[in-house]
Amino acid sequence: MKKESGYYAWLGEVRQKREFARVTDASLPPDAYRITGGGGAVTIASSDAAGAMYGEFAAGAQIRLGVEPATLDVTSVPAAKYRVLNHWDNMDGTVERGYAGRSLFFRNSELCYDAERIEDYARLLASVGINGICLNNVNLRDDSRRLITDEKLPQLAELAAIFRKYHVRLIIAVDFAAPKTVGGLSTSDPLDGGVIAWWRDTAARVYGYIPDLLGFLVKADSEFQSGPAALGRTQADGANVLAGALAPYGGTVFWRCFVYNCLQDWRDTVTDRPKAAYDHFFPLDGTFADNVVLQVKVGPVDFQVYEPLSPLLGALKNTRRGLELQVTQEYTGQQIDLYATAIPWERALSSHVSETRTLSELFGGGIDTVVGVSNAGDDENWTGNPLAQANLYAFGRLAWNPRASAGDILRDWSRLTFGNASDAAEPIADMLLQSTDVYAKYNAPLGIGWMVTPGHHYGVNIDGYEFSKWGTYHRAAHDALGVDRTSRGTGLTAQYDPWVAAQFEDARTCPEELLLFFHRLPYTFRLKGGVPLIQHIYDTHFDGADGVARFIETWDALRGKVPDELHSCVAERLNRQLENAVEWRDIVNTYFHRLTGIPDEKGRQIWL
Ligand code: GCU
Repeated sequence: MKKESGYYAWLGEVRQKREFARVTDASLPPDAYRITGGGGAVTIASSDAAGAMYGEFAAGAQIRLGVEPATLDVTSVPAAKYRVLNHWDNMDGTVERGYAGRSLFFRNSELCYDAERIEDYARLLASVGINGICLNNVNLRDDSRRLITDEKLPQLAELAAIFRKYHVRLIIAVDFAAPKTVGGLSTSDPLDGGVIAWWRDTAARVYGYIPDLLGFLVKADSEFQSGPAALGRTQADGANVLAGALAPYGGTVFWRCFVYNCLQDWRDTVTDRPKAAYDHFFPLDGTFADNVVLQVKVGPVDFQVYEPLSPLLGALKNTRRGLELQVTQEYTGQQIDLYATAIPWERALSSHVSETRTLSELFGGGIDTVVGVSNAGDDENWTGNPLAQANLYAFGRLAWNPRASAGDILRDWSRLTFGNASDAAEPIADMLLQSTDVYAKYNAPLGIGWMVTPGHHYGVNIDGYEFSKWGTYHRAAHDALGVDRTSRGTGLTAQYDPWVAAQFEDARTCPEELLLFFHRLPYTFRLKGGVPLIQHIYDTHFDGADGVARFIETWDALRGKVPDELHSCVAERLNRQLENAVEWRDIVNTYFHRLTGIPDEKGRQIWL
């Protein structure tokens, strides 16, 4: 493992780049490459400069993974046109849901960064095929609203120039109400002539500074952000006015679909939050401009450990879609607990949207963009927990090839990071491969979600969101648990393709990890292996904490085989993870034991 300019990463000896022969092959699609060894040289063919760069990174990685250069013969075409990171960085330097220090880009309402560090970051992202980045949070504040003004654009253009060297294009998150909040107009109504003209002028200004800007990102009518609905207009009215302004420059509007009622009453059992995105956007299918991408979170709620796919991803037929994944570990351990996101992403990508198609098969068709909410910050090791770098790496790999195996990706990451011949590479990859199952076991059971501490979302609080306004309820009673979202309940299943819906409708065919997401079941309900639901809760919670204890043993045995600094950084986090897992185990088990009065068949310690 190499420490390059102070930062551990999978790129290793980045500055000692090998020389490869380059040739142009106009028949290859944009960004694609062909690597051939033999004849004494490794040759990279591509139709454009970006493809040549991706080919060089890929060839370098293959050689570092031990592939004999002469045997190289790889042709690779990215499945998604745009492979984008969204930073949720605020201009005061804080990062919303960030667990790796402060922002790499902002301080004190200004752009403020270490150019060398940004170049390292751009190179790291490019090495896994990422070609777009939004630096500012989708939740706009006064200072970040002004990124589209002459006051901030000159500096933003300098930053864009660093990313441009690596074919990474900037996106700016904008406030839908900017005509008012920035422009001083009396309205931001998208059908108002003055507003339309304002967005046109704004696009002209922004593209004057950053001619290759990828586009604007908008979180509208969502969690107190302004939007067209508040003005009696549709989401399409809103997105299309921005699209019209960006079209002359080839820009794209990334319009988020995270729209739901965040002021729900828990007594209301009819409104069902996971239905909201489909209800808002499906009726508008086909009415969005060609340069609008609807950015849809992978699950219908909010990046919980287990969720089904968002029904919108498969249902939209005539609208471009972007799949939004969370690289930062908000609900999944906050870069303290070990959690390899590649595993749930692989599960999502191979989930069916219909009898004959999986999500990954929509790439190149309706889905042309993949977005990851970044997990990087200004911590020396980029991601707080150095092992969380695997999630950033995996994001790029899966965005490029959504059919790649999570196991291959994690093994490659571990070997590239720690060294192909290192004794540490395999045990670390194994830990990562087990990490999501271990984490899921001590968390909310079987797709329920939301048993986290409100606000910061780390640690257990079973009823923390139970009587809140956020639409996130488990409705645990003494005899049953879960929410009926079938045709007998809230009817969420009807938003899916009929073949998929049929699986979810029946508790015997519903994927077990989603059982309590779709069904309300008695604690005595027997799971597929014959174990009663309550016993499954106890068993998994004991197993989860035991799994973390085993990680600590594995990690202890790696002392001396990875850099000391890295070893102690991860060790400290694993100890905190164990405390967290024990707390989850004891609180969840006690809670359900108290509620049901049913003891653990195995007689283990449950606190009463
Ligand atoms: C979650 C997250 C917020 C974020 C929001 C979003 O709710 O907790 O911090 O702003 O998602 O995706 O917009």
